[in-house]
Amino acid sequence: MELPPQTRMRSRQFSLRTKLILSFLAVIAVGGLISLIIGRRLVRNTLISQAQAKVNHDLASAWMVFNEKLQDIKDTVSLTAARESLHEAIRNNRTEVLLRYLNRVRTQYGLDILTLTDSRGRVIVRTRNPGVIGDDQSEDEVVRRALQPNVLASPQIVPREELLREGQDLAEQAYLEFIPTPKAAPRPENEETSGLMLKAAATVIDESNEPLGVLYGGILLNRKYEIVDRVKEIVFKEEKYKGRETGTATIFQGDLRISTNATDQEGKRAIGTRLSEEVKKAVLDKGWAWNDRAFVVRDWYITAYEPIKNIDEEIIGILYVGTLEKPYIDTANRLMFTFTVIALLCAVFLLIVLYFATARIIKPLQSIVLATQEIARGGLDHRVEVQSRDEIGDLAASFNQMTERLKAANEKLVEWGTTLEKKVKERTRELEEMQAHLIQSEKLAGLGKLAAGIAHEINNPLGGILIYSHLLLEDAKKDTVQYDNLKKIVKETTRCKNIVKGLLEFARPKEPEMTPTDINDTVKRALSIFERQALFQNIEIRLDFSELPKIVSDAAQLQQVFTNIIVNAAEAMEGNGVLTIKTYVNCEAECIRVEFTDTGHGIKEEYRSRLFEPFFTTKEVGKGTGLGLAISYGIVQKHQGSIEVRSEVGKGSTFTVILPLNRKNADE
Ligand SMILES: Nc1ncnc2c1ncn2[C@@H]1O[C@H](COP(=O)(O)OP(=O)(O)O)[C@@H](O)[C@H]1O
Ligand SMILES: [Mg+2]
Repeated sequence: MELPPQTRMRSRQFSLRTKLILSFLAVIAVGGLISLIIGRRLVRNTLISQAQAKVNHDLASAWMVFNEKLQDIKDTVSLTAARESLHEAIRNNRTEVLLRYLNRVRTQYGLDILTLTDSRGRVIVRTRNPGVIGDDQSEDEVVRRALQPNVLASPQIVPREELLREGQDLAEQAYLEFIPTPKAAPRPENEETSGLMLKAAATVIDESNEPLGVLYGGILLNRKYEIVDRVKEIVFKEEKYKGRETGTATIFQGDLRISTNATDQEGKRAIGTRLSEEVKKAVLDKGWAWNDRAFVVRDWYITAYEPIKNIDEEIIGILYVGTLEKPYIDTANRLMFTFTVIALLCAVFLLIVLYFATARIIKPLQSIVLATQEIARGGLDHRVEVQSRDEIGDLAASFNQMTERLKAANEKLVEWGTTLEKKVKERTRELEEMQAHLIQSEKLAGLGKLAAGIAHEINNPLGGILIYSHLLLEDAKKDTVQYDNLKKIVKETTRCKNIVKGLLEFARPKEPEMTPTDINDTVKRALSIFERQALFQNIEIRLDFSELPKIVSDAAQLQQVFTNIIVNAAEAMEGNGVLTIKTYVNCEAECIRVEFTDTGHGIKEEYRSRLFEPFFTTKEVGKGTGLGLAISYGIVQKHQGSIEVRSEVGKGSTFTVILPLNRKNADE
C-alpha cells in the first residue's frame, strides 16, 4: 500500500522543540528585560533616596555648626558688653583703655570686627581700624535694634564702604571676581564687592539701666572656611571616592560661592563660582529648600540647599551640603551588573533544563510520527511504544487502538475480496454448466425428434422383415447356405430392431414411475446381470457402499443408467481391470452420489463434451450405438440429478451419478 508522494510529510520549517525553546526564550528575554529595567530604577531610587535622606540630615548638622558660630559671636559680644570695667571706661571716656581692652577681646575670640558706639549709634571705638571713628551706625539693622536695649545676632550683607571702614583688608577679603560657571544664571555684574558677615550686637547698659552705647562684632564669612570645613569634618569625615572627597559644604552669598570645600579642576576651592540657575530659581527666588541632585561646579551631587536669611527675613545667601552622586550610581550599576549576570546564568540554566525537558516530551511524539509513517507504508502491525502516563501516552494508546481497527478492517476487506472472487468463479462455472446443459438439452431434443420420426417409419417394415424372415427360416433346411443366410438376416434385423427400440426409448422416454428406492439395491441388481458374462470374468468389482436413505425414484430406469455405465467401464477396460463402485450421501449438497471408477483407457479431452450426444461412439461399427449415455442423461435429468465425468487418458475414468435426496416439485 504505497501512498502517493503528495500525502507524505510536508517539509518542516521549525521542529516542535525549536519552537518550544524559542517561545520560552522569548518569555525569558522579555521578562528579563522588564525586570532589569524595573530593578535598575528600583535600585537607583532606593540608593539615591537613602543618600538624599542622609544629605538632608547633614544639612541640619551644617545649620547647627552655622548657628553655633553665630551664637558664639553673640555670647562674646553680650558678655563683653555686660562687663563692669567697660561701663567704667565709657563713663570716664577713657578711649585708650577701651580700645586696648576691646582689641584684646576681638583677637582672643577670633572676631573680625569689634566696634563700640555711643548711645546714639556713633562709633567711639573701632578696634580693627582705630583711626576711623565718629561715623553713625544707627542705620545698620543690627545696631539699630540693639539701640533699644537688646542682644541679637544675624547674618548680614555688609557693603564695601562699610567693610572699608572696618578695615581695608576686610574689603579685599570680601572682594571676589566671578568665575564663569556652566549652568549658572547670567548676571549683569562680574564681581562681588560686599561681604557676608555673621554679626551680633548688644546694648551696653550700666547698673542704673542707663544705655551707654552698643557693642557689635562679627566674622566675615568670605574666604573663611572654618564653618564649611567643620561641617565636612563632622558630617563626611574623610570619605573619599577614587581619590576625591565625596562630601562638600558651601556658604553662598546670593548665588556666589564665598566659602566652600567643593573644588575646581585644579583642586582649588571653587570660590567665585556660582550656583546653577535651576537651584537659584528655587532657593534664592522662591525661598524653597532644594533636596535633589544638582550640578555643582563640575559634577552631579546629591544635594540639600536652604536659604540663609538676615534679620528682616530677607534671603541673602544659601547653606549647602552635598555628596558626590557617582559612588551611588556606580554601586547601583555594580548591583545591576551582578543582578544581570545572575539572571543570565539562570536563563542559561533554564535553557539547559528546557532542552532536556523538551527531549522528554518530543521523543514519544517522534516515535508516534515514525509509527504513522510506518503505518502509512502499510506496516499495520506496527505499534507505538510510549509508557508516559500523560496526554502523549493517551495519544499513543488511541493511536494503537486506531491501527488495530484499521488492521482488522483491512483484513476483512481482503477476505471479502477473496470470497467475492471465489463466488464469482463458482457462479461463472455454474452458469457455464447451465449453458452447456441447455445446449445439450436442445441438441438432444432436436435429435430426438428426428430419431423418433425415423424410428417410427422403420419400426413397422422392420417388424415385417423379422416376421417373414422367421417364417422363411422355419421352412429352410438346416445346414444349408439359405438357412445360414436367413439366420444372419434374422440376427441383423433383430439388431436393427434393438437400435430402433433404443432410439424410440431415447426420443420418447417413458414417464418414470416414482417409488421409494434403495439406490444400493438398484446398483447390485444392475451388477447381477453381468456376473456370468464373459466380459466380466477378469474384472474385479469393489463395492464401497454407505448407508443410504431411500429416495423417491424410478428403480427400473436408474438400473438402466447404472447398467449402461457399468458396460461402458467394462468395455473401456477391455475385460481386464478394477471397477470400484462407491455410494455415499453428500450432506452439504443434500444428494446421493454413485461413483463408478474404472481403470480403463480414459476419455480424450476432445470427446469429453460430446459424450452425451446420441450416436456419439468411439467403438467400431456394430459394437456401439452411442445411445447409452444419451439415454442415461435423459433419465437422470428426469430425476433432477446430473452425471459428472472425470477422466485421465491411460489411467481411467470416473462417472458419478448425482441424485437429489429431496426432489423439488415438478412445477418448480
Ligand atoms: N468408462 C468409459 N471409459 C472410456 N470411454 C467411455 C466410457 N464410457 C463411455 N465411453 C465413451 O463414450 C462413448 C459413448 O458411450 P455410449 O453412449 O454408451 O455409447 P457406446 O457405448 O454404444 O459407444 C463410448 O463410445 C466411449 O468412447
Ligand atoms: Mg455404451
